[in-house]
Amino acid sequence: MPDQIDLQLAQRLIDEHSTLPGAMLPILHAIQEQFSYVPAEVVPLIADSLNFSRAEVAGVLSYYHFFRQQAPAKHVLQICRAEACQSMGSEALAAHARALLDSSSADVTLEPVYCLGQCGCAPAILLDEQLYGRVTAERLAELINRRTS
Ligand code: FES
Repeated sequence: MPDQIDLQLAQRLIDEHSTLPGAMLPILHAIQEQFSYVPAEVVPLIADSLNFSRAEVAGVLSYYHFFRQQAPAKHVLQICRAEACQSMGSEALAAHARALLDSSSADVTLEPVYCLGQCGCAPAILLDEQLYGRVTAERLAELINRRTS
């Protein structure tokens, strides 16, 4: 069962950012930074505070891949899927990661990201906020093992 979301804290974060221009994105970033994702319970608070419909907030949430709508696992593996990394095999690397994670009990959320600013070191990944470049399938397995065991 997921942890109870502190809605007062969420409302405080919303209030702190609600006067910024284009407040929706700063609010969503602040919420995700605090809770690691944007809980469904917070969507009505954002909608009410900004005078948007819940559907509009949900639309923004689903448009941007960056925002999680589910709580992530203990570890987060992000594999860059943008052009430079794709040309260096990031799709195959992501498929390898998926197979690896499916066959293990490692508590890892696998997510795509779109450019980590490391195009010269493609394919690039972030594992628990740590950046790695020129990642091969073998190195990926080693990094996941080291991080999760
Ligand atoms: S395209 Fe992957 S780091 Fe830029």
